[in-house]
Amino acid sequence: MINRRDFLLCVAGVSALAGCQTSEEGGQSANPAAERVINAGPVSAYASDGVYSRYRDSGFFVVREGQKLFVLSATCTHKKCKLVAESDRSFYCKCHGSTFDPEGKVTNGPAKRDLPGFATEVNEQGQLLVKVPGG
Ligand code: FES
Repeated sequence: MINRRDFLLCVAGVSALAGCQTSEEGGQSANPAAERVINAGPVSAYASDGVYSRYRDSGFFVVREGQKLFVLSATCTHKKCKLVAESDRSFYCKCHGSTFDPEGKVTNGPAKRDLPGFATEVNEQGQLLVKVPGG
């Protein structure tokens, strides 16, 4: 099982690419009113490799790839349609056909921007907290 420190390091690597922030002290952002913190349940529920879509309607996918656990936006970067997770772990937009690879990189337009990762942390109870930006 991945420990809290390793998890945060892993998430920080992904978050750095996406410009997100992680914090050991509650993760206050510059504009906390603009984000929602969603408790995505026990981190142990994401032990197997794959894409977890149960929070798609809340705006994100949880992705497990070996020791890496990260969260990607479930909203297409073209015109904000909800994405679908495919069986090969890629993402598809039914609105205009954009596709994204399992790490959120655009593989087919019209979308031009990769999917952003969301900042996360694991609380003392082992719950995965996801910071979903507002707007
Ligand atoms: Fe996703 Fe246009 S909204 S491709």
